[in-house]
Amino acid sequence: MEYTSIPASRFEEVIRHLRLSFPDEPLNASVGLSLYGKPCSLLEQYDLSTLEEGLSVMAVDTYTNEIAGVLLNGTSKKGDIEEAIKRMETIDNIPYQQIFGLLNNVNKELDLFTKYKVDKIFEFRILAVDPKYRGQGVGKELFLRSEMIAAENGFKLMKVDATSFFTQKICDSFGFETIKTIRYGDYLDENGQKIYNTKSPHDYYKVMIKILHGKRND
Ligand SMILES: CC(C)(COP(=O)(O)OP(=O)(O)OC[C@H]1O[C@@H](n2cnc3c(N)ncnc32)[C@H](O)[C@@H]1OP(=O)(O)O)[C@@H](O)C(=O)NCCC(=O)NCCS
Repeated sequence: MEYTSIPASRFEEVIRHLRLSFPDEPLNASVGLSLYGKPCSLLEQYDLSTLEEGLSVMAVDTYTNEIAGVLLNGTSKKGDIEEAIKRMETIDNIPYQQIFGLLNNVNKELDLFTKYKVDKIFEFRILAVDPKYRGQGVGKELFLRSEMIAAENGFKLMKVDATSFFTQKICDSFGFETIKTIRYGDYLDENGQKIYNTKSPHDYYKVMIKILHGKRND
């Protein structure tokens, strides 16, 4: 397996990879935002703007040149969450509101910029490994490479909105700290029905962070 940053020439391939690998993400699987094999323009706009930052990493099978996994990373700046919450009011898509509404509100409340006195945060945003390469350490290695990219780019704080139990395990193994835990089952609609029917072992959404102690550019 080869791990490299993602050149623009492979962005379309990354999008095709995500259409097959990301629908399993627990929140997506539960509310059906991205469906297997189908384009999801709201998510793909987000993926492409994140890719354009040049902080993302991919795993490529050296025998087939196929993308085995990706971790799309981006910068969150002060005020971005408030803007995203405003923009969401104009987006008429219930699954999108259910996922990003939850993530944005939790992050707004946490206000990590004030708490950790930073102007920018390195966000691990979209992690997806092709099902046939899962359970072989690809996700873990993508994390390790991403942490190196964060350090090289002078970030002081890294953050993961870990919606999957497997991502939480990876974060634990790299010394991330859990600063917020949300139990999916606690969210009910007006009829008392669960909003997020995630499958076990994906019972919690955790916000996990790690402070980097290297040279700072922010
Ligand atoms: C989450 C995901 C990227 C993990 O990728 P991966 O390459 O399989 O992960 P790794 O092989 O590095 O394993 C990471 C940890 O999860 C555990 N794990 C992974 N798949 C597992 C499975 N099916 N059952 C039990 N444990 C599993 C591994 O044992 C490892 O834990 P350990 O270090 O304690 O042994 C992959 O399952 C995926 O693409 N899922 C769909 C999209 C998604 O959920 N993205 C994450 C959003 S936060």
